[in-house]
Amino acid sequence: MPPGTEPSARLVVTGAGGQVGRELLRLAPTARAYSRARLDITDPTAVESVLRPGDIVVNCAAYTAVDRAESDPGSAFAGNATGPAVLAAACTRAGARLIHLSTDYVFPGTAATPYEPGDPTGPTTVYGRSKLAGELAVRDNCPAAHIVRTAWVYRGTDSDFVATMRRLEQERHTVNVVTDQVGSPTYAADLAAGLLELAGRPESPTVLHATNSGRASWFEVARAVFAGIGADPDRVQPCTSAEFPRPAPRPAFSVLSGTAWRDAGLTPLRPWESALTEALARAAR
Ligand SMILES: NC(=O)c1ccc[n+]([C@@H]2O[C@H](COP(=O)([O-])OP(=O)(O)OC[C@H]3O[C@@H](n4cnc5c(N)ncnc54)[C@H](OP(=O)(O)O)[C@@H]3O)[C@@H](O)[C@H]2O)c1
Repeated sequence: MPPGTEPSARLVVTGAGGQVGRELLRLAPTARAYSRARLDITDPTAVESVLRPGDIVVNCAAYTAVDRAESDPGSAFAGNATGPAVLAAACTRAGARLIHLSTDYVFPGTAATPYEPGDPTGPTTVYGRSKLAGELAVRDNCPAAHIVRTAWVYRGTDSDFVATMRRLEQERHTVNVVTDQVGSPTYAADLAAGLLELAGRPESPTVLHATNSGRASWFEVARAVFAGIGADPDRVQPCTSAEFPRPAPRPAFSVLSGTAWRDAGLTPLRPWESALTEALARAAR
Protein backbone atom coordinates (compact mmCIF):
# COMPACT_ATOMS: atom_id res chain seq x y z
CA MET A 1 0.00 0.00 0.00
CA PRO A 2 1.61 3.34 -1.00
CA PRO A 3 2.30 5.86 1.76
CA GLY A 4 -0.66 8.04 2.59
CA THR A 5 -3.24 5.44 1.70
CA GLU A 6 -3.35 3.59 5.05
CA PRO A 7 -6.93 3.50 6.32
CA SER A 8 -6.30 6.03 9.11
CA ALA A 9 -4.68 8.47 6.67
CA ARG A 10 -7.83 8.31 4.55
CA LEU A 11 -10.06 8.71 7.57
CA VAL A 12 -11.85 12.05 7.94
CA VAL A 13 -13.69 12.84 11.18
CA THR A 14 -16.30 15.59 11.16
CA GLY A 15 -17.69 16.85 14.46
CA ALA A 16 -14.28 15.91 15.81
CA GLY A 17 -14.70 17.93 19.02
CA GLY A 18 -17.63 15.82 20.26
CA GLN A 19 -17.68 12.68 22.37
CA VAL A 20 -17.40 10.11 19.60
CA GLY A 21 -15.13 12.28 17.46
CA ARG A 22 -12.62 12.66 20.28
CA GLU A 23 -12.54 8.92 20.90
CA LEU A 24 -12.06 8.22 17.19
CA LEU A 25 -9.08 10.54 17.15
CA ARG A 26 -7.60 8.93 20.24
CA LEU A 27 -7.71 5.57 18.44
CA ALA A 28 -6.76 6.92 14.99
CA PRO A 29 -4.57 9.97 15.68
CA THR A 30 -3.51 10.37 12.07
CA ALA A 31 -7.09 10.83 10.86
CA ARG A 32 -7.92 14.25 9.42
CA ALA A 33 -9.92 15.90 12.16
CA TYR A 34 -12.47 18.64 11.59
CA SER A 35 -14.08 20.19 14.62
CA ARG A 36 -17.00 22.51 14.02
CA ALA A 37 -14.67 25.51 14.08
CA ARG A 38 -12.68 24.03 11.17
CA LEU A 39 -15.57 22.65 9.14
CA ASP A 40 -19.27 23.39 9.32
CA ILE A 41 -20.92 20.45 7.57
CA THR A 42 -23.78 22.65 6.34
CA ASP A 43 -21.32 24.63 4.17
CA PRO A 44 -21.14 22.86 0.77
CA THR A 45 -18.06 24.72 -0.48
CA ALA A 46 -16.10 24.08 2.68
CA VAL A 47 -17.10 20.42 2.78
CA GLU A 48 -16.18 19.88 -0.86
CA SER A 49 -12.78 21.50 -0.36
CA VAL A 50 -11.62 18.96 2.24
CA LEU A 51 -12.68 15.70 0.59
CA ARG A 52 -10.48 13.54 -1.62
CA PRO A 53 -11.21 10.37 -3.58
CA GLY A 54 -10.88 7.29 -1.37
CA ASP A 55 -11.57 9.16 1.88
CA ILE A 56 -13.64 7.47 4.54
CA VAL A 57 -15.67 10.13 6.32
CA VAL A 58 -17.08 9.37 9.77
CA ASN A 59 -19.69 11.99 10.47
CA CYS A 60 -19.84 12.64 14.21
CA ALA A 61 -21.21 16.17 13.75
CA ALA A 62 -24.75 16.63 15.02
CA TYR A 63 -27.04 18.94 16.91
CA THR A 64 -27.45 16.84 20.07
CA ALA A 65 -29.26 19.20 22.47
CA VAL A 66 -32.39 17.06 22.65
CA ASP A 67 -34.47 19.39 24.83
CA ARG A 68 -33.31 22.62 23.15
CA ALA A 69 -34.27 21.17 19.76
CA GLU A 70 -37.96 21.37 20.74
CA SER A 71 -37.80 25.16 20.72
CA ASP A 72 -35.12 25.48 18.02
CA PRO A 73 -36.07 23.03 15.26
CA GLY A 74 -34.27 25.18 12.66
CA SER A 75 -30.89 24.53 14.25
CA ALA A 76 -31.67 20.86 14.84
CA PHE A 77 -32.63 20.28 11.21
CA ALA A 78 -29.65 22.30 9.95
CA GLY A 79 -27.13 20.18 11.88
CA ASN A 80 -28.90 16.85 11.63
CA ALA A 81 -30.52 16.92 8.17
CA THR A 82 -29.05 19.69 5.97
CA GLY A 83 -25.47 19.00 7.10
CA PRO A 84 -25.63 15.24 6.46
CA ALA A 85 -27.26 15.91 3.06
CA VAL A 86 -24.41 18.26 2.11
CA LEU A 87 -21.80 15.80 3.33
CA ALA A 88 -23.40 12.81 1.59
CA ALA A 89 -23.66 14.63 -1.75
CA ALA A 90 -20.05 15.80 -1.45
CA CYS A 91 -18.86 12.26 -0.62
CA THR A 92 -20.58 10.91 -3.72
CA ARG A 93 -19.04 13.62 -5.91
CA ALA A 94 -15.57 13.12 -4.42
CA GLY A 95 -15.64 9.31 -4.51
CA ALA A 96 -15.42 9.12 -0.72
CA ARG A 97 -17.19 6.69 1.60
CA LEU A 98 -19.45 7.93 4.39
CA ILE A 99 -20.23 6.47 7.80
CA HIS A 100 -22.99 8.53 9.38
CA LEU A 101 -24.12 8.28 13.00
CA SER A 102 -27.74 8.24 13.98
CA THR A 103 -29.80 7.48 17.03
CA ASP A 104 -32.35 5.32 18.84
CA TYR A 105 -34.57 8.43 18.85
CA VAL A 106 -35.65 7.66 15.27
CA PHE A 107 -37.83 4.94 16.87
CA PRO A 108 -40.98 5.56 18.90
CA GLY A 109 -39.45 3.93 21.98
CA THR A 110 -42.54 1.89 22.77
CA ALA A 111 -41.26 -1.58 21.79
CA ALA A 112 -40.71 -4.47 24.17
CA THR A 113 -37.95 -6.17 22.18
CA PRO A 114 -34.75 -4.62 20.77
CA TYR A 115 -35.17 -2.53 17.62
CA GLU A 116 -33.75 -4.07 14.43
CA PRO A 117 -32.34 -1.79 11.69
CA GLY A 118 -35.35 -2.43 9.42
CA ASP A 119 -38.03 -1.81 12.03
CA PRO A 120 -40.48 1.03 11.35
CA THR A 121 -39.24 4.39 12.55
CA GLY A 122 -41.48 6.91 14.30
CA PRO A 123 -39.66 9.66 16.15
CA THR A 124 -41.58 11.54 18.83
CA THR A 125 -39.21 14.51 19.27
CA VAL A 126 -37.79 17.27 17.08
CA TYR A 127 -34.31 15.81 17.59
CA GLY A 128 -35.53 12.36 16.47
CA ARG A 129 -37.32 13.78 13.43
CA SER A 130 -34.26 15.79 12.44
CA LYS A 131 -32.00 12.74 12.74
CA LEU A 132 -34.43 10.63 10.70
CA ALA A 133 -34.47 13.34 8.03
CA GLY A 134 -30.67 13.13 8.08
CA GLU A 135 -30.75 9.37 7.55
CA LEU A 136 -33.06 9.77 4.56
CA ALA A 137 -30.92 12.54 3.11
CA VAL A 138 -27.79 10.41 3.48
CA ARG A 139 -29.49 7.47 1.77
CA ASP A 140 -30.73 9.69 -1.08
CA ASN A 141 -27.41 11.42 -1.69
CA CYS A 142 -24.98 8.57 -1.01
CA PRO A 143 -26.76 5.21 -1.27
CA ALA A 144 -23.68 3.19 -0.28
CA ALA A 145 -23.20 5.16 2.95
CA HIS A 146 -23.35 3.34 6.26
CA ILE A 147 -25.84 4.64 8.80
CA VAL A 148 -24.94 3.51 12.31
CA ARG A 149 -27.52 4.09 15.01
CA THR A 150 -26.29 4.18 18.56
CA ALA A 151 -27.72 5.18 21.95
CA TRP A 152 -26.93 6.49 25.43
CA VAL A 153 -23.35 7.49 24.58
CA TYR A 154 -20.95 8.65 27.31
CA ARG A 155 -17.22 9.17 27.82
CA GLY A 156 -17.40 9.66 31.59
CA THR A 157 -16.27 13.27 31.23
CA ASP A 158 -17.75 16.77 31.00
CA SER A 159 -21.50 16.72 31.61
CA ASP A 160 -22.50 13.31 30.29
CA PHE A 161 -24.65 11.03 32.48
CA VAL A 162 -21.75 9.09 33.98
CA ALA A 163 -19.77 12.23 34.79
CA THR A 164 -22.90 13.85 36.23
CA MET A 165 -23.47 10.88 38.55
CA ARG A 166 -19.85 11.06 39.70
CA ARG A 167 -20.29 14.74 40.46
CA LEU A 168 -23.63 14.27 42.25
CA GLU A 169 -22.12 11.52 44.37
CA GLN A 170 -19.77 14.19 45.74
CA GLU A 171 -22.40 16.88 46.13
CA ARG A 172 -25.48 15.08 47.51
CA HIS A 173 -26.31 12.31 49.87
CA THR A 174 -28.99 10.84 47.60
CA VAL A 175 -29.92 11.27 43.94
CA ASN A 176 -33.19 10.38 42.25
CA VAL A 177 -32.88 8.58 38.91
CA VAL A 178 -35.57 7.26 36.60
CA THR A 179 -36.40 3.57 36.43
CA ASP A 180 -38.81 3.75 33.49
CA GLN A 181 -36.36 4.44 30.65
CA VAL A 182 -34.41 1.42 29.45
CA GLY A 183 -31.52 1.40 27.00
CA SER A 184 -27.96 0.29 26.37
CA PRO A 185 -25.32 2.64 27.81
CA THR A 186 -22.57 2.92 25.22
CA TYR A 187 -18.98 3.87 25.94
CA ALA A 188 -17.84 6.27 23.22
CA ALA A 189 -14.45 4.53 23.07
CA ASP A 190 -16.07 1.18 22.26
CA LEU A 191 -18.32 2.76 19.66
CA ALA A 192 -15.30 4.47 18.07
CA ALA A 193 -13.46 1.14 17.85
CA GLY A 194 -16.51 -0.39 16.18
CA LEU A 195 -16.71 2.45 13.68
CA LEU A 196 -13.05 1.97 12.78
CA GLU A 197 -13.69 -1.73 12.20
CA LEU A 198 -16.63 -0.83 9.96
CA ALA A 199 -14.41 1.62 8.09
CA GLY A 200 -12.40 -1.38 6.91
CA ARG A 201 -15.51 -3.36 5.97
CA PRO A 202 -17.25 -1.53 3.10
CA GLU A 203 -19.34 -4.60 2.17
CA SER A 204 -21.30 -4.43 5.47
CA PRO A 205 -25.05 -3.70 5.44
CA THR A 206 -25.88 -0.02 5.06
CA VAL A 207 -27.98 0.37 8.22
CA LEU A 208 -26.54 -1.02 11.44
CA HIS A 209 -26.97 -0.66 15.18
CA ALA A 210 -23.98 -0.36 17.51
CA THR A 211 -24.30 -0.12 21.28
CA ASN A 212 -22.64 -1.88 24.18
CA SER A 213 -24.56 -5.10 24.80
CA GLY A 214 -27.11 -5.66 27.54
CA ARG A 215 -29.67 -3.22 28.82
CA ALA A 216 -30.37 -1.15 31.93
CA SER A 217 -32.53 1.65 33.23
CA TRP A 218 -30.84 4.95 34.02
CA PHE A 219 -31.44 4.04 37.67
CA GLU A 220 -29.40 0.86 37.22
CA VAL A 221 -26.65 2.75 35.38
CA ALA A 222 -26.48 5.31 38.19
CA ARG A 223 -26.23 2.55 40.78
CA ALA A 224 -23.44 0.94 38.78
CA VAL A 225 -21.58 4.27 38.69
CA PHE A 226 -21.89 4.66 42.46
CA ALA A 227 -20.77 1.08 43.05
CA GLY A 228 -17.93 1.50 40.58
CA ILE A 229 -16.47 4.46 42.46
CA GLY A 230 -16.84 2.78 45.84
CA ALA A 231 -19.98 4.62 46.96
CA ASP A 232 -23.13 3.00 48.35
CA PRO A 233 -25.47 2.32 45.40
CA ASP A 234 -28.46 2.59 47.76
CA ARG A 235 -27.87 6.35 47.75
CA VAL A 236 -29.45 6.24 44.26
CA GLN A 237 -33.22 6.41 44.73
CA PRO A 238 -35.77 5.31 42.10
CA CYS A 239 -38.17 7.76 40.53
CA THR A 240 -40.30 8.01 37.36
CA SER A 241 -40.04 10.19 34.26
CA ALA A 242 -43.34 11.82 35.26
CA GLU A 243 -41.52 13.35 38.25
CA PHE A 244 -38.98 14.96 35.89
CA PRO A 245 -40.92 16.37 32.92
CA ARG A 246 -38.63 17.61 30.14
CA PRO A 247 -39.35 19.52 26.94
CA ALA A 248 -38.56 16.43 24.83
CA PRO A 249 -40.21 13.23 26.07
CA ARG A 250 -37.66 10.44 26.47
CA PRO A 251 -38.29 7.00 24.90
CA ALA A 252 -39.25 4.35 27.46
CA PHE A 253 -37.41 1.64 25.51
CA SER A 254 -34.26 2.43 23.54
CA VAL A 255 -32.60 -0.95 23.19
CA LEU A 256 -31.10 -1.47 19.71
CA SER A 257 -30.47 -4.99 18.47
CA GLY A 258 -26.85 -5.81 17.66
CA THR A 259 -27.81 -8.85 15.59
CA ALA A 260 -27.17 -7.25 12.18
CA TRP A 261 -23.79 -5.97 13.38
CA ARG A 262 -22.79 -9.42 14.63
CA ASP A 263 -24.17 -11.19 11.54
CA ALA A 264 -22.05 -8.90 9.37
CA GLY A 265 -18.98 -10.33 11.11
CA LEU A 266 -18.30 -7.13 13.02
CA THR A 267 -17.07 -7.52 16.60
CA PRO A 268 -19.95 -7.11 19.07
CA LEU A 269 -19.43 -4.30 21.57
CA ARG A 270 -18.84 -5.74 25.04
CA PRO A 271 -21.43 -5.71 27.86
CA TRP A 272 -22.15 -2.22 29.17
CA GLU A 273 -21.07 -3.11 32.71
CA SER A 274 -17.45 -3.88 31.78
CA ALA A 275 -17.29 -0.85 29.49
CA LEU A 276 -18.47 1.35 32.36
CA THR A 277 -15.85 -0.13 34.67
CA GLU A 278 -13.14 0.85 32.20
CA ALA A 279 -14.59 4.33 31.68
CA LEU A 280 -14.63 4.95 35.44
CA ALA A 281 -11.06 3.72 35.79
CA ARG A 282 -9.96 6.03 32.97
CA ALA A 283 -11.82 9.01 34.44
CA ALA A 284 -10.11 8.42 37.81
CA ARG A 285 -6.62 8.55 36.27
N1 LIG B 1 -24.71 11.33 22.86
C1 LIG B 1 -25.61 10.37 22.76
O1 LIG B 1 -26.11 9.85 23.77
C2 LIG B 1 -26.03 9.85 21.42
C3 LIG B 1 -27.02 8.87 21.37
C4 LIG B 1 -27.43 8.39 20.12
C5 LIG B 1 -26.85 8.87 18.97
N2 LIG B 1 -25.90 9.83 19.04
C6 LIG B 1 -25.35 10.33 17.78
O2 LIG B 1 -23.97 10.08 17.77
C7 LIG B 1 -23.29 11.11 17.06
C8 LIG B 1 -22.16 11.69 17.89
O3 LIG B 1 -22.73 12.17 19.10
P1 LIG B 1 -21.84 12.80 20.25
O4 LIG B 1 -22.38 12.28 21.53
O5 LIG B 1 -20.39 12.64 19.94
O6 LIG B 1 -22.30 14.31 20.09
P2 LIG B 1 -21.58 15.64 20.63
O7 LIG B 1 -20.64 15.30 21.72
O8 LIG B 1 -22.69 16.61 20.88
O9 LIG B 1 -20.73 16.10 19.38
C9 LIG B 1 -21.31 16.61 18.22
C10 LIG B 1 -20.32 17.59 17.63
O10 LIG B 1 -20.84 18.06 16.39
C11 LIG B 1 -20.56 19.45 16.32
N3 LIG B 1 -21.46 20.09 15.36
C12 LIG B 1 -22.74 20.48 15.53
N4 LIG B 1 -23.21 21.05 14.40
C13 LIG B 1 -22.19 21.02 13.50
C14 LIG B 1 -22.04 21.46 12.16
N5 LIG B 1 -23.04 22.07 11.51
N6 LIG B 1 -20.85 21.26 11.54
C15 LIG B 1 -19.85 20.66 12.17
N7 LIG B 1 -19.91 20.21 13.45
C16 LIG B 1 -21.08 20.40 14.10
C17 LIG B 1 -20.75 19.95 17.72
O11 LIG B 1 -20.11 21.19 17.90
P3 LIG B 1 -20.72 22.24 18.97
O12 LIG B 1 -20.63 21.54 20.30
O13 LIG B 1 -19.85 23.42 18.82
O14 LIG B 1 -22.15 22.46 18.55
C18 LIG B 1 -20.07 18.82 18.52
O15 LIG B 1 -18.69 19.01 18.65
C19 LIG B 1 -24.38 12.10 16.64
O16 LIG B 1 -24.82 11.80 15.35
C20 LIG B 1 -25.51 11.82 17.61
O17 LIG B 1 -26.76 12.16 17.07
C21 LIG B 1 -25.47 10.32 20.23
